[in-house]
Amino acid sequence: MTIISVVGPKGGIGKTTLSINTTAALTRRVASRPSRQGVGLIDLDLRLPTISSILDSHPKKTFYDLFETLDNKSYQVEFLRTVYMILSRFGQYLAGDIQADDKKLAKILFKYQNLNYELFRYEAFPFGDALHELFMERVNVRTVDQIKSLEPILNKFDLKKFRSLIRDSENNSWPVLEEYINFIEEYGFSFLGGEVPILGKRLHRKRINQPEFLLLFLKVLEGVVKKFDYVVLDTPAGGVNHLSSLMNIIDQVLFIFDLSNTIAVNGSIDALHSFIDYYEDFQKDAMRGTLTGLDKEYVDRVIRERGKNAVCESMKNKKLGILFNRCQDSDAIKKALGQLREYLDTLDKYQQYKNRIHIVGMVPNHKIINITNNRCALFYDMDMALTARMDQIAESIVSDNQNCPTLGDPDKEIIRYLNSSERPKIIKKLTQIAGNLRAASNFS
Ligand SMILES: Nc1ncnc2c1ncn2[C@@H]1O[C@H](COP(=O)(O)OP(=O)(O)OP(=O)(O)O)[C@@H](O)[C@H]1O
Ligand SMILES: [Mg+2]
Repeated sequence: MTIISVVGPKGGIGKTTLSINTTAALTRRVASRPSRQGVGLIDLDLRLPTISSILDSHPKKTFYDLFETLDNKSYQVEFLRTVYMILSRFGQYLAGDIQADDKKLAKILFKYQNLNYELFRYEAFPFGDALHELFMERVNVRTVDQIKSLEPILNKFDLKKFRSLIRDSENNSWPVLEEYINFIEEYGFSFLGGEVPILGKRLHRKRINQPEFLLLFLKVLEGVVKKFDYVVLDTPAGGVNHLSSLMNIIDQVLFIFDLSNTIAVNGSIDALHSFIDYYEDFQKDAMRGTLTGLDKEYVDRVIRERGKNAVCESMKNKKLGILFNRCQDSDAIKKALGQLREYLDTLDKYQQYKNRIHIVGMVPNHKIINITNNRCALFYDMDMALTARMDQIAESIVSDNQNCPTLGDPDKEIIRYLNSSERPKIIKKLTQIAGNLRAASNFS
């Protein structure tokens, strides 16, 4: 399984467009593999997901539903845990094991009086009726002494069984992943994500900023990505800050570099710089063991699964792929490459990164792409020249950037590579043979 994250500095530079078409090209590229598990496209723009409407593909369950499920199910489990605490403490008091002035008892009584039980599904729970009675009685239990009046209700609970029911709920509280994977017959790949309903947006925004939900979300994603050979992640502008740990564990990064004008080029270079800074800080903290919060929990878990060495290696050797978008001509590429090298040199980082920054592909500024009709956002297979460009990108992904040039290669070589996808296959083959012959005669 390989995860490719499509990232970019600002809005509207083509992340979504190129994610979709890269997915289509990858699908074609790996279709003949014997162990085909397919390609998945995930819309990680959790605030404003757009892919489902672009592809006119609406999963049965969206990420909004996923957060709902995580919320509801974790609520049920949390509720049961609290009730268990109440039952066992009250039981201890009635049995005379703790006294009326026990501090914890007062706290538990407060919890009992204030616990929100509206969302709990009584019908489906074996002790549902007794629980309902317990909470109906709250109005009559104001003091510790009054807990005694609950004895007949408390006797209806078998605490051992209650504990095992909580354990069952914990094991069941996981979403059914298949419900979120939408295989699109027409395109041959799967899509995950989907729109957020207008009325649910406020709540959704709140949830996607809460670390405990994001951690659960990451866990779900981990389960999902294992089901595919390749997964393409479309990310929101500026990257997935709230899912930063994921960004640093992923296998390949495709950085969309906007070549449409000088300001866009400067912005892309600056964003690449911050990406490197961020990546270096993350790596340092991970090695020193000083990561915190969501990053720490996530990395710790990946280390537990894959081993520390594998995680350290993958972080240390992380490769970065650049995909030039909205390219006007070769001069624009040369100019941007020069600027990028100079910039990294000023930071004293050129030598360190020149061979780790791969130039994966180039997509011209094209009227076909810029059509407002959404269906044309998937241009793969519609325009031959653009399709060949996307095939080149897919090839790079599959070969782990082995065949594409790096920032350290001469401009001529980079441009030749980027334009090589334009030539018909037969000419490419002849050029390759001629090159081999030349190399052979030089050698002898
Ligand atoms: N190479 C290109 N030539 C012409 N138009 C392009 C090209 N790449 C992208 N576009 C157009 O630019 C617009 C924005 O593209 P897209 O939605 O893919 O950007 P994005 O980076 O995902 O934006 P956001 O940050 O808002 O998610 C779209 O209308 C798309 O068709
Ligand atoms: Mg987008």
